[in-house]
Amino acid sequence: MFITLEGIEGCGKTTQINHLSRFFENRGQSCVVTREPGGTAIGKEIRSILLNPASKGMVAKAELLLYMADRAQHIAAVVNPCLAEGKVVLCDRYFDATVVYQGFARGLDTRFIYELHRLVMDDLKPDVTLLLDLPPRIGLKRAWKQLEDGTRNGIESRFEEETLSFHEKVRAGYLELARLEPERFRTIDASGDEEQVQKDIREALTQYLK
Ligand code: TMP
Repeated sequence: MFITLEGIEGCGKTTQINHLSRFFENRGQSCVVTREPGGTAIGKEIRSILLNPASKGMVAKAELLLYMADRAQHIAAVVNPCLAEGKVVLCDRYFDATVVYQGFARGLDTRFIYELHRLVMDDLKPDVTLLLDLPPRIGLKRAWKQLEDGTRNGIESRFEEETLSFHEKVRAGYLELARLEPERFRTIDASGDEEQVQKDIREALTQYLK
């Protein structure tokens, strides 16, 4: 089973994915937690270029292709082999992030992005996508706090430095994707506390697994 988590900066994906991994392990299912960008050794190098504020001058097309390069490597080296072994793959961001960030927010043609995805992913779609939704004003505040107190690597702040209106477009983009694919998406209100969000995610998944 392939499950992805998506949402704006500061939505709590990284914390929740670890809870989720325990949820599956308690059910006796072996699972792997991974992420994009940065789920492989090559991907980590790509991630550092993408998220470093020093890469500010990067054009949108270069950004898109770096995310695609990270994904091609990640699918071949991690996602496909783990799915073939019957593991549950929990992935912190996947192709919806590209549609939303590089498409809706940066303005690249989403048809072209979907074409590239066919090349890179061979139609490997998640079974379920959990969208942790919250207003960008709250998410960005949380994200900056993590960057400042060192919970999150301070050298990875290129997207946090984008304007509020950029993040509003990201959020609206995710909600639009969830509306278009209600079978795959489960939208969770992520503005509450960690425990409540964890409970809501478990409930959504328990329903799905039935
Ligand atoms: P994160 O690992 O903290 O979620 O950071 C990854 C950043 O990269 C986040 O700001 C979203 C962005 N991103 C894209 O712009 N496009 C993509 O395809 C992916 C996977 C992430």
